[in-house]
Amino acid sequence: MSENEQQQGDTSESRHTDYDISKAIQSTHGLRQGLTSYGDAHFSLFLRKVFIKALGYSEDALSRPIIGVINTYSGFNPCHANVPQLIDAVKRGVQLSGGLAIDFPTISIHESFSSPTSMFLRNLMSMDTEEMIKAQPCDSVILIGGCDKTTPAQLMGALSANKPAVHLVTGPMMPGSHRGVRVGACTDCRNNWAAFRAGKIDIEDISAINDELAPTAGTCGVMGTASTMACILVALGLMPFAGASAPAVSSSRLRIAEETGRIAVQLATNKKLNPQSLLSRDSFLNAITVLQAIGGSTNAVVHLMAIIGRHPNVAGTITLDTIDEIGRKTPLLVDLKPSGDNYMTDFHNSGGMLSLLYKLKPLLHLGALTYTGSTLGEEMARFAPMKIPQQLSHIQPFDNPLYPASSLVVLRGNLAPNGAIMKASASKDRRLLQHKGQAVVFRNSEDMARRLDDPALPVTADSVLVLQHIGPKGNPGMPEAGLTPIPTKLASQGVMDMLRLSDGRMSGTAGGTIVLHISPESAHPTSVLGIVRDGDTIICDVANRILRVEISDVEIAARQKQRMETPEDAAGLIMPDGPVATERGYRGLYKRTVLQADKGADFDFLTAQGPEPQRQRD
Ligand code: FES
Repeated sequence: MSENEQQQGDTSESRHTDYDISKAIQSTHGLRQGLTSYGDAHFSLFLRKVFIKALGYSEDALSRPIIGVINTYSGFNPCHANVPQLIDAVKRGVQLSGGLAIDFPTISIHESFSSPTSMFLRNLMSMDTEEMIKAQPCDSVILIGGCDKTTPAQLMGALSANKPAVHLVTGPMMPGSHRGVRVGACTDCRNNWAAFRAGKIDIEDISAINDELAPTAGTCGVMGTASTMACILVALGLMPFAGASAPAVSSSRLRIAEETGRIAVQLATNKKLNPQSLLSRDSFLNAITVLQAIGGSTNAVVHLMAIIGRHPNVAGTITLDTIDEIGRKTPLLVDLKPSGDNYMTDFHNSGGMLSLLYKLKPLLHLGALTYTGSTLGEEMARFAPMKIPQQLSHIQPFDNPLYPASSLVVLRGNLAPNGAIMKASASKDRRLLQHKGQAVVFRNSEDMARRLDDPALPVTADSVLVLQHIGPKGNPGMPEAGLTPIPTKLASQGVMDMLRLSDGRMSGTAGGTIVLHISPESAHPTSVLGIVRDGDTIICDVANRILRVEISDVEIAARQKQRMETPEDAAGLIMPDGPVATERGYRGLYKRTVLQADKGADFDFLTAQGPEPQRQRD
């Protein structure tokens, strides 16, 4: 072929008499895959080459496997501040392995810069990720994420797009220091804010602490949602062992990025390892075992249910009960905040995920596949766990755990017929794990903000704080408002923990005796949480996994009927199925299609099953 013919792209191939245009359109390799529709496949490829050459690529470069690198850098996302350096290192790894790396943006979500809440945008980011992976000619993709909602959104999207993919997280930030004590986002954000509210530290201290809580780029440095999801990605076989814990600002993080580039080229040439074939039920069981052993974020439960719901062969085979069952035999081994005392850097220096997986070996499904095409057991056998004296390690031995089992529990009962989640290991007052008390009910977040610190509020340390209407539909995005603060008048008396219930979420970095994700949520017509009133007796019995309100079924039915007959209640809340259908834009789409928390709060039309015309959407 002459140089001129080469430069014209597809000309030689088009001369073959038996050339099949449909093959070009359906090609799964390089630039030829997924051609733009102009009705003429040759012209589509010709035009694609015209435009990509405007970026200066040679024919040699364009003939290589194309690795899409998803760029989630944003000036509003400090957890992703190191993404530009990671992209440089990733590209180096891709080029060293003979591939061509091309980066492209998707939206980026940070916890503190997303209104009303980052979770409101998770499904949007997953749609963006899925569609851009499908639309563009990538042989494999590198998903660079990190902050809480970004990694689950990317995995949901990549699983649905089903092109070979590998994850790279930005990595945890370093801890800071205040008066000689280490502090880090964001368990210490909450602890210190609670101490400030209780008058235990003054304005100067809280201002100084504010400077130190996030001292470097990277994700929150405790076992919050970002760290939990990073560990889960390793357990799923979608990231190298050290990928979960190497600090964001370390040279290791950059070497992992370079290695990820190399992995992506391998994945591009071995097209069989797409996410739906790589991930099996066993992969997810491993992920749940790790979730329990690290005392991971309650948010990870919602994300896992959404991710599982995207997998055509796994959806429906794992439920909240599976998470509880695995928890009963899995000890909490990792001593990190909020369940323990330390930071992600300590986990990394203790050997990180590889050491943890070795300790969990009896509970793992070692035959599950990883990104290498080898099984988890085979991959583990390639590396020896770090040798470190136990007294210096922050990973406990299997037979001497931090907490014997069931770090995360699933509660059921008339208050939560479809389940609720509690991180029992993060309870600050373990007596509350078996508790009976009178409800003090807040109708929504605004009601709580207005009345919580009212000295006249009839609340005692034994009361149960009930926060309604912060579920997926009722307060779109299911905000992290489930950590209802201790009323100031009790906090100043030294009360550090109370039993608190809601249909919302809480930050993975938070602790306390908090029941979350109650399903169905208050805004649902059949919700019992939504009809709880001040003074009702609530029973929480973690040992028996019970969450109940002591009112009769007849009374429940009467209150539900009354509620449905009132279009707007005294607190100004619009009752279920009000103006939802008429709301425009993404918010309308969200409210019309979001599933309940026990199903991952995904949109019904994005699940592997998809929507059904007659299906109850929630
Ligand atoms: Fe991004 Fe915590 S705010 S990980």
